[in-house]
Amino acid sequence: MTDLHVSEAVRYVGADDTTLDLFEGQYPIPNGVSYNSYVILDGKIAIMDTVDRRATEAWLKNLEEVLGGRKPDYLVIQHLEPDHAGNIGLAAEKYPDMILVGNAKTFQMLPKFFPGDYSARSLTVKEGDTLSLGSHTLTFVMAPMVHWPEVMVSYESSEKILFSADGFGKFGALSVREDWLCEARRYYMNIVGKYGAQVQALLKKAASLDIQTICPLHGPVLKEDLGFYLGKYDLWSRYEPEDEGVLVAYASIHGNTAKAAAAMQAILEGRGCPKVVAVDLCRVDQAKAVEDAFRYGKMVVMSPTYDGGLFPPMDHFMAHLRDKTYRNRTVAVIENGSWAPAAAKIMRSYLENMKNVTICPTVHTIQGALKDADRAAMEQIASELLA
Ligand code: FEO
Repeated sequence: MTDLHVSEAVRYVGADDTTLDLFEGQYPIPNGVSYNSYVILDGKIAIMDTVDRRATEAWLKNLEEVLGGRKPDYLVIQHLEPDHAGNIGLAAEKYPDMILVGNAKTFQMLPKFFPGDYSARSLTVKEGDTLSLGSHTLTFVMAPMVHWPEVMVSYESSEKILFSADGFGKFGALSVREDWLCEARRYYMNIVGKYGAQVQALLKKAASLDIQTICPLHGPVLKEDLGFYLGKYDLWSRYEPEDEGVLVAYASIHGNTAKAAAAMQAILEGRGCPKVVAVDLCRVDQAKAVEDAFRYGKMVVMSPTYDGGLFPPMDHFMAHLRDKTYRNRTVAVIENGSWAPAAAKIMRSYLENMKNVTICPTVHTIQGALKDADRAAMEQIASELLA
């Protein structure tokens, strides 16, 4: 088992998944992911969430090892998404006296995944309710839409532990050593990014708690420098840019738009822009491109027209940004079209429907290969973008 001894009484029983290619069926996870689950050992024993069914065997082994022959009294269900709730039915069957703890929404949604009748063994909690396990006491804090409607987090007051559900999670198995920030940001922007207002509401509640440890449902247990993690979540959920820089997001059919993107990158770097990141939307992980779009305050989108509309890789990117409620940024639009160009109009229409997105006044059309006149227009666009 991954050694994640939270404390003498609070034990990690989750599992790594290093063979899943796409998280939620769409996000590449080259370093895997962890499905975290914890056990609180006290006079009464609580399991904090289960794991994905892909990790049932490892979870059961870890659970039995930590329980040491004792039986759990409670299963606290903080989140019903199958990457955490996959084994509720199995656990309920294995431990028939175990009480399921959730909120009203949890038990409204539970039958959609587990059709059995659990009403006689369900404990419904609401905001501020407590559950004493002996020397440990859990207080439940509702966190709707972080990231599903039934989500709640739990604060254990004797050890000052916040069980934070999806919050403060990251992609990447625990067996892989990697920096927290990059994969936590990619995870946040793509999984929770749409729900900034709800994250802000949860952060306000968390501010009144003395938190010394954060136990998320993905990624490492956080015990030090918690202000750093809370600060990142505050920034991200306010949709503020994190770093000064420009993302040049381009899609190219035959390479001409790619050459134009490289020229745009060089122009911006020549203007002293501290960071210019170019991403090829045909090849890069779109979740990474979305992460970078939120990370920086400015962006250039460059795409050809295709079948009378927007080239699909750019269309997908724009749709992702729309769905994650991209906002509060400045964007320049450049299209490529040898005849009947339509890409810029469609990109503009996406951007015009986003909140507080400023579109640079010069919208330029490249016709096929890059020419001197295009470079002059791109210089003008750089001036507008960096103004
Ligand atoms: Fe990790 Fe929303 O599930």
